[in-house]
Amino acid sequence: MKSFQIKTRVNFGDQALDRLAEVPYKRILIVTDPFIAESKMMELVLDPLRRGNKEFEIFSDVVPDPPIGKISVGVKKMLEYRPDAIVAVGGGSAIDSSKSIREFALRVDHYGEVGLIAIPTTSGTGSEVTSFAVVTDPAEQRKYPLVSWDLTPDEAILDAELVKSVPPSVTADTGMDVFTHALEACVSINRNDFSTALAEKAIEICGVFLLRAYLDGNDTHARQKMHSASCLAGLAFNVASLGLNHGMAHQLGATFHIPHGRANAMLLPHIIEFNSDINKHSKSRTEYLPAVKRYSTVAQILGLSSYNKIMTVRSLVNWVQFMLKEMDIPLSISQMGTITEKEYFDAIDKMAEAALEDSCTATNPRVPTKEDVIKIYKDLW
Ligand SMILES: NC(=O)c1ccc[n+]([C@@H]2O[C@H](COP(=O)([O-])OP(=O)(O)OC[C@H]3O[C@@H](n4cnc5c(N)ncnc54)[C@H](O)[C@@H]3O)[C@@H](O)[C@H]2O)c1
Ligand SMILES: [Fe+2]
Repeated sequence: MKSFQIKTRVNFGDQALDRLAEVPYKRILIVTDPFIAESKMMELVLDPLRRGNKEFEIFSDVVPDPPIGKISVGVKKMLEYRPDAIVAVGGGSAIDSSKSIREFALRVDHYGEVGLIAIPTTSGTGSEVTSFAVVTDPAEQRKYPLVSWDLTPDEAILDAELVKSVPPSVTADTGMDVFTHALEACVSINRNDFSTALAEKAIEICGVFLLRAYLDGNDTHARQKMHSASCLAGLAFNVASLGLNHGMAHQLGATFHIPHGRANAMLLPHIIEFNSDINKHSKSRTEYLPAVKRYSTVAQILGLSSYNKIMTVRSLVNWVQFMLKEMDIPLSISQMGTITEKEYFDAIDKMAEAALEDSCTATNPRVPTKEDVIKIYKDLW
């Protein structure tokens, strides 16, 4: 038996933030990063809280790729303030921090039920509806995805006003993260009709609106669409899970602090090629690995097609490379110019082992060996 369940109430569209005045909570801990805490965005969040007579405090210690140490500072803050809800405002880092803080604090002292409302300010991770939280262990240089139904937010608020200030490079990275979530959900061994429907819609939106949002951050319609796509892709991978792309990207993030979406984007062409094994197929071959059919459907949703499935998958790889070039995302680690060849190659063995152990890798459509992963990391150089 399979089942499909959505836990999170999703509030979206114009004035979605007004929901904050009505939520059934009184004492709120806002968890965010220092940049957002100081920005005009915070007023947009505080205004409805004040109108709803909510008490609140702001914890603004979130850093990208949340390390365990920062999460324990948040746990301490939560146990001191004892809110009846956490409102997470920010990108995946703020939302994942909030999930972890609530989970760990209530394990130390279960003083009551504590709600979690996630307000994403990037259109990327879909964390506002997922049961995943990614935490970093800086000592081990590893990222760990925590997975539990209890981590899932109770409500999400999607207000495109909050994403208008996202700079083009972050729009590009986070937008490609959305695309990677949707694509990995489409080919995951755990996919089902419900997750695929959500993922395919997210892919369609990315195809039409990601470049528009990148080129003009004030294009409200494109911003709203990408905000929906991010959430749809989150709902999709929450069921289907992800794959090797994320398993490998997590290690690039933990080791070299490459932004999460960017690491995913750079890996994408390599992972599509690996999963479909297109470089080994002759053009006339009629038997394919299972992922080939799924990738070719995705290519068709993007309006790409060719005279056979392998060539259609090739056109998908070309489309991803086109998007990377248009949005100034490097195609290789060497192109980034921030990591030396020696430090990169020295890290590959450890990253490959960690990628194989990463829980995302388990649902990849093709089972990779350590040699496969090492080869992909080397090709990425
Ligand atoms: N939980 C999940 O399901 C899930 C899925 C994918 C990724 N992740 C994790 O999420 C994290 C990445 O999240 P992210 O890509 O959203 O980035 P992020 O939260 O790390 O934010 C990136 C940068 O963008 C800035 N920013 C955020 N909103 C902004 C705005 N509106 N205007 C201007 N700047 C803004 C932040 O201050 C930060 O400097 C990683 O740790 C990744 O592993 C989680
Ligand atoms: Fe992601």
